[in-house]
Amino acid sequence: MPKIRFTVSLEKDLLTEFDKKIQVDGYATRSEAIRDLIREGIIKEEWESGSEVIGSITMVYNHHERDVSTDILHLQHDYNDVILSTQHIHVDHDNCLEVIIVRGVVEKITELFHLLKASTGVKQCELTRSTTGKNLD
Ligand code: NI
Repeated sequence: MPKIRFTVSLEKDLLTEFDKKIQVDGYATRSEAIRDLIREGIIKEEWESGSEVIGSITMVYNHHERDVSTDILHLQHDYNDVILSTQHIHVDHDNCLEVIIVRGVVEKITELFHLLKASTGVKQCELTRSTTGKNLD
């Protein structure tokens, strides 16, 4: 898609902070950093609007922990209408990493995420909010 140039005015101190931040984040140009900020804003809006969203839940758990594998399996069957696919990797003797791709109503996905995160034996659980892709180019 063709790019359009526009001018942004902001306070000197704010620009200094912005430049420091984008340098740490590794951006080559302010434009690329601003584009990502806008995209993040659009995705946040999409997730807050309650419409259909897409994303993924990544979690790490110890499968030796009592009942954890069964609990996670039951939850995934209960929420099968928002789960597109699940990938399971046996990281080492004790730990499993599972990535669940989700699509559907925000409330239901958030509910599933919180239930998984709170499950005994789950060491890490992150929700990545993605977008169905509209208007990001
Ligand atoms: Ni495993």
